[in-house]
Amino acid sequence: MKLQTRFIPFLALAILALLFALWAGLLRLGWMLPALPNLALAHGPLMISGFLGVLIPLERAVAIRQRWMFAAPLACGVGWVSLLFAPTLGGILMTVGSIVALFILIVMVRREPVIHTVTMAVGMLSWVIGNILWISGFPIYQLAHWWICYLILTIGGERLELSRVLHPTRGQIRIFGVLALALLAGTVLSMFNANWGACLSGLAMLALAIWFLKNDIAARNISHPIPLTRYIAFCLFSGFIWMGIGGALQMIYGATYAGPLYDAVLHTVFVGFVMSMIFGHAPIIFPAILGAPINFYPAFYAHLALLHFSLLLRVTGDLTNQVDVRKWGGVLNEAAILMFLGMTVYSVLRSRK
Ligand code: HEM
Repeated sequence: MKLQTRFIPFLALAILALLFALWAGLLRLGWMLPALPNLALAHGPLMISGFLGVLIPLERAVAIRQRWMFAAPLACGVGWVSLLFAPTLGGILMTVGSIVALFILIVMVRREPVIHTVTMAVGMLSWVIGNILWISGFPIYQLAHWWICYLILTIGGERLELSRVLHPTRGQIRIFGVLALALLAGTVLSMFNANWGACLSGLAMLALAIWFLKNDIAARNISHPIPLTRYIAFCLFSGFIWMGIGGALQMIYGATYAGPLYDAVLHTVFVGFVMSMIFGHAPIIFPAILGAPINFYPAFYAHLALLHFSLLLRVTGDLTNQVDVRKWGGVLNEAAILMFLGMTVYSVLRSRK
């Protein structure tokens, strides 16, 4: 397989956004570190529309290969860099990137009008709405539900597509559709009544997590004889559990605005669910983008185990108000993500030899 170097600048933009976002995450945890003036406040947008805003549309653009589609990761990439020096311009560029990404999904829905493409398109629409609210000056705690909805529906739609091999029944698909709609309804409701909105979307997340634990192909692959397939299944399975925990926390605590509970509610989803999914999808996404296979090493389990252990520590610190426990949990979260990046690069380079 020939390494496709032309997409490496996009990947570099995504990874740099992640590194800046991780730096900002440490500042938000209270670690005293040098910083750029806007960095700490940019943490959420850097993660959502910088790192994932480049990566997710890039994967779609590489798969469909229409030139205009690369405008989405490009706008998000230039957008996050601008955000650090000219926040207004950065916000506008990232919003434009999300709108182009929505058009990519519209193309996909027109080609294949089925539930998983529609789910992903609604996910993209949620990202666009969240971004428009953000650049209009809404506080992030008020629009974070839109960003959560974006990631759950985008990843959920993709999982639904990949689990088609199990031939889910019409009834199972219908239940999925109802739960996805309930998540969207909770997100809309959160704009008018923050507590009820958080409860409804929390309930939908918990139910969706149970749905995936039962119906995703991960459940079957957890005892698969191929080590890479088994590892991916562990990533997905544990990610769904964190989504369920995040949903339960939202139901218990309702709307959160800042501080430890806010941290726990957001990061059970963003770190527990989203990062686990990224760990699990990397062996599929990177070969598709780079044209280079990824070799599996049992050491992959080290960053996965560290991610879950550290998140457990962080959430325990959050829920019991132990500031240092939360701070160290956050640092170890980041160590797990850096280990994952290192292992992925090593694996791609080794597979070339
Ligand atoms: C892995 C290490 C991470 C650390 C240490 C970290 C740290 C933090 C902290 C301390 C906060 C503020 C919570 C509070 O108000 O007390 C925060 C907020 C937030 N984080 Fe993270 N985070 C991490 C990963 C992520 C990821 C992976 C995402 C998204 C995919 C994410 C998205 C957000 C968002 C959207 C907010 C809300 C921002 C705001 O209200 O301004 N974080 N994070």
